[in-house]
Amino acid sequence: MTSAKLWGGRFSGKTDPLMDKFNASINFDKKLYEADILGSQAYAKALARRNILTTEEKDSLVNGLEDVLKEWREGTFIIREGDEDIHTANERRLGEIVGSVAGKLHTGRSRNDQVATDLRLWAREEAKKLLVYLKQLIGAAVERAGKEIDVIMPGYTHLQRAQPIRWSHWLLTYAWSWQADAERLSQIIDRLNLLPLGSGALAGNPFNIDREFLAKELGFKDVIQNSLYGVSDRDFVAEILFWSSMTMIHISRFSEDLILYSTSEFGFVTLADAYSTGSSLMPQKKNPDSLELLRGKSGRVYGQLSGFLMTYKGLPSTYNKDLQEDKEPLFDAVDTLAGSLQITAGVLSTLTIYPERMKQNLSIDMLATDLAEYLVRKGVPFRETHHIAGEAVRLAEDRNTTMDHLTLEDFKQLHLAFEDDVSLIWDYEKSIENRCSLGGTSKQTVKEQIVKLTKWLNE
Ligand code: ARG
Repeated sequence: MTSAKLWGGRFSGKTDPLMDKFNASINFDKKLYEADILGSQAYAKALARRNILTTEEKDSLVNGLEDVLKEWREGTFIIREGDEDIHTANERRLGEIVGSVAGKLHTGRSRNDQVATDLRLWAREEAKKLLVYLKQLIGAAVERAGKEIDVIMPGYTHLQRAQPIRWSHWLLTYAWSWQADAERLSQIIDRLNLLPLGSGALAGNPFNIDREFLAKELGFKDVIQNSLYGVSDRDFVAEILFWSSMTMIHISRFSEDLILYSTSEFGFVTLADAYSTGSSLMPQKKNPDSLELLRGKSGRVYGQLSGFLMTYKGLPSTYNKDLQEDKEPLFDAVDTLAGSLQITAGVLSTLTIYPERMKQNLSIDMLATDLAEYLVRKGVPFRETHHIAGEAVRLAEDRNTTMDHLTLEDFKQLHLAFEDDVSLIWDYEKSIENRCSLGGTSKQTVKEQIVKLTKWLNE
């Protein structure tokens, strides 16, 4: 029904029904219903301030829009054939409720500045929710780190046993990554919080609309200063997609660590039943599906980022319908992140750890660095001590034993600076406590991290 379309005036032919479907975005952009209505209510008020609407007309529109909003909230809004997108659907419904005055709402406005405004409003509110989930996750990590500060485990590089560390220190790696993610997201919220409305289709608004008033009404910190930029900029979508990708990288790496640590080979942790599933064939299986899904879903988010960037690149200036393709990637990434952040927090706060098993996996060779450092403290240059400690490792290996079983004479053969106290090196706790420079794995420096993160969380 071409004649019923908002833009149908200049058309005499009908659109191909398949084209109607292809063109429509209502099935996904209905998510924007609230942002769209808030934007329209603010715009009606702005029109009244320029006497394009009388006070009665403005009130009628604002109240009518409130009714439409109520229908969406209560699930009674009926999408009709011909509702191309959320903007046309809301306007159509408004007309049914308030009559022909609805036709005045779009004065000087275009769906181009409307959709840009809606999407920023929506993104701002959703990003704030994600920030809350992210902070809950960081809080869960910090809480566990505090409670389990005495647990020690092997630290790895190249997935080979490297040096003993605190389990809390490992946990906080991710807390710090997520804290950086939270800072990034706050900055993105701040950057995107600018008003496009009043840009018109591209060239600006002809009714001297008060854009500063609109910005204030909608909680934007400022007005976008160039109308062409206002309708065409979607950098904030790209930024949120990149943020989502980065955050999923952290979640995915965290998951990968825990998947490994939950194998029988490691045996450091088991997941709560709430976040595991069984096998349909093998009765003994308890699989870390939650973590595998988190790792798997990260791929989907990177796909949304690269997909959107491909859509966005090379667009001629200003609005092009390609930009309608900004929404599904954004919606999907935001949904995925909301779910992933909450599941990650659930897994993290409910898993069981096996401190004894972690300890059993420490081995004397992991103290070879400490042996080298021992000689450094006796005045031998590190380059030499590294070599000497290596020789001690080899000697123990050749004798099919561990370094703590070498005698003082053995050590003296390697270097005369070795004394009785070499026997004190073979203590994992001591090795950990030696790493007490800021950021290290000693108890004090892990506690300092907890204090800093807690302070940041409470800010
Ligand atoms: N559904 C459209 C979108 O998401 C709204 C803007 C349409 N503008 C236009 N000039 N056709 O981008």
